[in-house]
Amino acid sequence: MASKMQVLFLAFLSMTSSFIVCQANSGYGYGFGWGSGGGNNYNSLSPYFYDFSCPQANDIVVSVLENAISQDPRMAASLLRLHFHDCFVQGCDASILLDDSAAFVSEKRAKPNVNSLRGFTVIDIIKARLEEECPETVSCADILALVARGATVLSGGPGWEVPLGRRDSKAANMLLANATIPPPILTAQKLIASFKQQGLDEVDLVALSGAHTIGVARCTSFKARLYSQNGNSEADVSLEKAYLNELKSVCPSSGGDNNITPLDYASPRSFDNTYYKLILGGRGLLFTDQQLYSGNYATLAQLVKSYADDEGLFFDQFAKSMVKMGTISPLLGSNGEVRKNCRRAN
Ligand code: HEM
Ligand SMILES: *[C@@H]1O[C@H](CO)[C@@H](O)[C@H](O)[C@H]1NC(C)=O
Repeated sequence: MASKMQVLFLAFLSMTSSFIVCQANSGYGYGFGWGSGGGNNYNSLSPYFYDFSCPQANDIVVSVLENAISQDPRMAASLLRLHFHDCFVQGCDASILLDDSAAFVSEKRAKPNVNSLRGFTVIDIIKARLEEECPETVSCADILALVARGATVLSGGPGWEVPLGRRDSKAANMLLANATIPPPILTAQKLIASFKQQGLDEVDLVALSGAHTIGVARCTSFKARLYSQNGNSEADVSLEKAYLNELKSVCPSSGGDNNITPLDYASPRSFDNTYYKLILGGRGLLFTDQQLYSGNYATLAQLVKSYADDEGLFFDQFAKSMVKMGTISPLLGSNGEVRKNCRRAN
């Protein structure tokens, strides 16, 4: 009986490996991630990457997320944002998670991130549980991708199949983080250019901006709009008046730079399409949010309207665009490493 099982298993193995070879040759390499340190040479990502080496990976991620979000509802937003800030800087390689080292300054201290990004200790908890159950197997970059989906789903948003098999970088790049993460003062044209540099188009830009349906921003991120948008002591004309006055009460003209307010005040904890509805009424919080509709760019404005009209359409496109963003320049095969601790290279 045992030997029959072994024969069957070997047959399965040989079928599987020829399948892998076939697929790899045709450029679709399904990485099955047969355990740790096995020198995987797969040349693309696959949702099945951990099916044999760590099938419980996503369950672990989700259970830690449920706990973290129940203690701090904003955490869903903070964690979703990490994947974006990771992927826009030398690809989705968990460079965002590295602390300062002798060799480099961390991206955490870059302008778009400092005093703003959060959630690193939640990632540490997930990584520690994964190291207990499947040592040296699940990369920190893949954790960020699974976390982004988990945070979206737990907030009421769409799910998607997460391509996996990214490896982790050995270094971070603060200069690049300063340069490539878009600041909230960009015009529509410049937002499009910023996303285009990452291989993302206008549809991706509008759909991914919908992540601002959850979470908050500090006054410093939008204060110029309230008091002196063009250095002329006038508020941004695209900002609806009653909303402008409310924001002024949260953010005084001097001080209060770290006060926070929701990006989508209508439903700040629920992943839905109200973000777009607010923008239609001049109630986008960031200049860049409002630019999608008020930036004299018809393609973007039309997309905002269609997502405001049809939440299902937004959800479908958000899912597709998250997969696309999640595949920006991954480290594959024997490039990079699987970090044991997400905060430092091995
Ligand atoms: C389109 C260009 C984007 C710009 C200019 C931008 C800018 C910002 C800024 C300035 C904040 C507030 C930070 C602070 O004041 O501390 C913020 C928050 C946030 N961003 Fe974006 N963002 C963009 C795209 C995205 C994308 C693509 C995602 C994810 C897919 C995302 C997810 C978030 C989330 C969830 C928050 C709230 C975080 C929290 O509450 O901790 N953003 N963003
Ligand atoms: C990036 O931005 C930070 C924060 O504003 C600044 O201190 C740092 O000098 C910048 N780093 C580089 C390498 O440009």
